[in-house]
Amino acid sequence: MSTDLTERALSAYAPSAEFAAQANAQASLYQEAEEDREAFWAKQARRLHWHTPFSEVLDWSEAPVAKWFADGKLNVAYNCVDRHVEAGHGDQVAIHWEGEPGDSRALTYSDLLAEVSKAANYLTELGLQPGDRVAIYMPMIPEAIVAMLACARLGLTHSVVFAGFSSSALRSRIDDASAKLVITTDGQFRRGKPAPLKASVDEAIGGETPAPSVEHVLVVRRTGQDTPWQEGRDVWWHETVEQASDQHEAQAFDAEHPLFLLYTSGTTGKPKGIVHTSGGYLTQTSYTHDAVFDHKPGKDVYWCTADIGWVTGHSYIVYGPLSNRATQVVYEGTPNSPNEHRHFEVIEKYGVTIYYTAPTLIRTFMKWGREIPDAHDLSTLRLLGTVGEPINPEAWRWYHEVFGHGRCPIVDTWWQTETGAIMISPLPGVTEAKPGSAMAPLPGISVQIVDDEAHAVERGATEANGYLVVDKPWPSMLRGIWGDMQRFKDTYWSRFAEQGYYFAGDGAKFDEDGAIWVLGRVDDVMNISGHRISTAEVESALVGHDAVAEAAVIGASDETTGQAIVAFVILRKGVENTGDELVSSMRAAVAKDIGHIAKPRDIYVVPELPKTRSGKIMRRLLRDVAEGRELGDTSTLVDPAVVESLRQK
Ligand code: WTA
Repeated sequence: MSTDLTERALSAYAPSAEFAAQANAQASLYQEAEEDREAFWAKQARRLHWHTPFSEVLDWSEAPVAKWFADGKLNVAYNCVDRHVEAGHGDQVAIHWEGEPGDSRALTYSDLLAEVSKAANYLTELGLQPGDRVAIYMPMIPEAIVAMLACARLGLTHSVVFAGFSSSALRSRIDDASAKLVITTDGQFRRGKPAPLKASVDEAIGGETPAPSVEHVLVVRRTGQDTPWQEGRDVWWHETVEQASDQHEAQAFDAEHPLFLLYTSGTTGKPKGIVHTSGGYLTQTSYTHDAVFDHKPGKDVYWCTADIGWVTGHSYIVYGPLSNRATQVVYEGTPNSPNEHRHFEVIEKYGVTIYYTAPTLIRTFMKWGREIPDAHDLSTLRLLGTVGEPINPEAWRWYHEVFGHGRCPIVDTWWQTETGAIMISPLPGVTEAKPGSAMAPLPGISVQIVDDEAHAVERGATEANGYLVVDKPWPSMLRGIWGDMQRFKDTYWSRFAEQGYYFAGDGAKFDEDGAIWVLGRVDDVMNISGHRISTAEVESALVGHDAVAEAAVIGASDETTGQAIVAFVILRKGVENTGDELVSSMRAAVAKDIGHIAKPRDIYVVPELPKTRSGKIMRRLLRDVAEGRELGDTSTLVDPAVVESLRQK
């Protein structure tokens, strides 16, 4: 590890003078924030429009629940749409939408305002009140963004559920939030084929035990396929929203009004509904989108390849970019539909200048070969970003050279669903970048890397891996876990309660130069292609299968997806091991319970699991087995022979 780090440290990329000369961010930002953090954030907050200006910046008296700009009032959707139209930019394209089958649409800011107003009028007609929750289960079509903004406009709290999640995952999220309305589509295009989506909603909320909270299902027609229908409950978007008035006046809400819930995996099986509010969240997403992506409204063509089902889609497709009057590409499908050229064609077609994606996709492009990007004109690109998992230096360099032709700064951005916005990243034009390092906390953000006793870990100490903590409140921080404040405190604030640090759940270290290297999760959360999935969730899905008595799941390292899910299962007494057939049915059980993204890559049927004398499964050993390594310390095992039997799996 140490030689590896030294080698990496040598290869820092300094910002080019040319980029620096035009950069939004200046080195003085760090100093400004250092001198007076609250004044710094107040200044960033004033980039937004406040119906009622705030007089107080931060109230931390009820820590760990922060209040930012609490006496201010604003409307998030007004900030993302109306004010740009009022300032004379109504004709600027907000969204260049590219459908998977090759259809496309452009929506200007005026179009967006009309669409959001119509949706807001219809949602009001449905009787929804500020604070009510709305579940959004949709593919990447403009109406998904319109739906989110309409909720924001009315003070409704949206809960977007990734359309790749199964109906049972959708149901548990609807129930947890008591959502009154579900917005969905008839179907979605996936790899060229229409697949039903509304049918999953019906499965989730209908049947023998209908979801008690849901009053209506609002359905956008996307694929045109036959769709099951429940009169009275289900309504078509084109028959309602599209017929509504396009005039709607936005009301202001308190800065701390809840904007959205987003469920994310924790260390136990039950996903957590992370709560985000309005003023602080929009302040930090807007500021970071401007400074980290060096975004120039009216000039750049920005593309974040995430899905709105994840926090990256919330913060860097919807709220950050739109608040900054971005022109952005939104693409519905997969990168290899109809073939592996698709992303590069889209970059060429729209002249994309800023491209933000996940390391797992970069590694996939590497696998497909550089002749694919080389066949396209990528010269419009001027800044590249990554998010979701550590990027290996090799992938970083490939991205730099093949996408960026050596000219484009790369921002490796560390943050989480819980942090709401980017926390650690180089500032392009200001900070140098080292391939694989997220570098430094942004101006206004303060982090530390500490050991178990909360002592700061020394710089450059190669063995001294520590925990990443945030030691001062930040505007877009989570305000809680929906309906479970105790879990909120236990999960994030109990580990270093005395110091009052936010525990991020990631391991990290500082190198000799003080650059931060985020090393991955230190809890039982796996990171598969940048998606967080807990081992407990997958285990509970497997144990739900009739044949399975016990299951242990680990994240094994994987060249493309970062980590891959590997499961070890013990069969119930009397169950015959039918091999592939049985294993496929287990994978199907996981897909049904959670979604396709959680299907284990490998499932091994084993006679026993290695356990400590106190009965804990030794995941470290399972990881060694799955990755084909020499076994580490087995002295605490109850029965070392178990490991031998695993090896013969
Ligand atoms: C990981 C995604 C290294 C990390 C925005 C974190 C990263 C989890 C990086 C959050 C990065 C995210 N370098 N690791 N640049 N960005 N992570 O909630 O483990 O889906 O805790 O938010 O992804 O995942 P989430």
